[in-house]
Amino acid sequence: MAVIRVIGIGPGDPKYGLVGQDEWFQEADIILGSERHLEILPEDYRHKGVVAPKKLKDLSQLLSSYDKDKAVLYLASGDPLIYGLGKWLSETFKGQVEIISGISAMQYLASRVALAMNDAYLTSSHAKTPNFDLIMSLSKVFMVTDQAIGPYQIAQEAVKRGLKKVIIIGENLSYADETITILPAEQVENKMYQMNVVVVLDEGFGIY
Ligand SMILES: C[S@@+](CC[C@H](N)C(=O)[O-])C[C@H]1O[C@@H](n2cnc3c(N)ncnc32)[C@H](O)[C@@H]1O
Repeated sequence: MAVIRVIGIGPGDPKYGLVGQDEWFQEADIILGSERHLEILPEDYRHKGVVAPKKLKDLSQLLSSYDKDKAVLYLASGDPLIYGLGKWLSETFKGQVEIISGISAMQYLASRVALAMNDAYLTSSHAKTPNFDLIMSLSKVFMVTDQAIGPYQIAQEAVKRGLKKVIIIGENLSYADETITILPAEQVENKMYQMNVVVVLDEGFGIY
């Protein structure tokens, strides 16, 4: 089986990608990623792009089908080891995966609002129900989310517990339509949000 190099492409805008990525695009025979991730490829490398199957079983089969001498590059969003495919790939293809970290959407958001990530807890509501008792007991939590449990549902967990929390919502980070909203939990609206990162923060960080 081929060696798989996994690189973090950052939050999305290619200017937050890795300085060395052009060399890795060049070296690769096959470049896998989601449609959004493959959009970062410069014109010269587009023909190498293959949309990765969403189901892990299908992805595993596809990766296993490549010849040993093929150089496979997998584009992961943000940092591959922060709620990305890096963990699954390295566990599934032990010893055959090289991971290169990128700027996580969480780190990008922290920088945009100048909030240190020291002592932060990182978690996810992406396709799972997080442990809200734990989250609400901590002072600084960064979360990647999905449509089912997003900013409103997270904020309501604070409201329900009578906690004074500040919520930071970073939507479409690094893209032209990026929006960053900072609000007390009780003011977070029940509406559709774009792809987002949520920070749940105690008052007193000087952010709101
Ligand atoms: C499977 S996780 C991948 C996280 C990624 N490994 C990282 O370090 O940023 C996907 C989730 O990350 C968040 N995300 C990734 N890119 C984003 C962006 N540009 N803007 C806002 N949220 C983003 C969203 O919560 C999305 O549902």
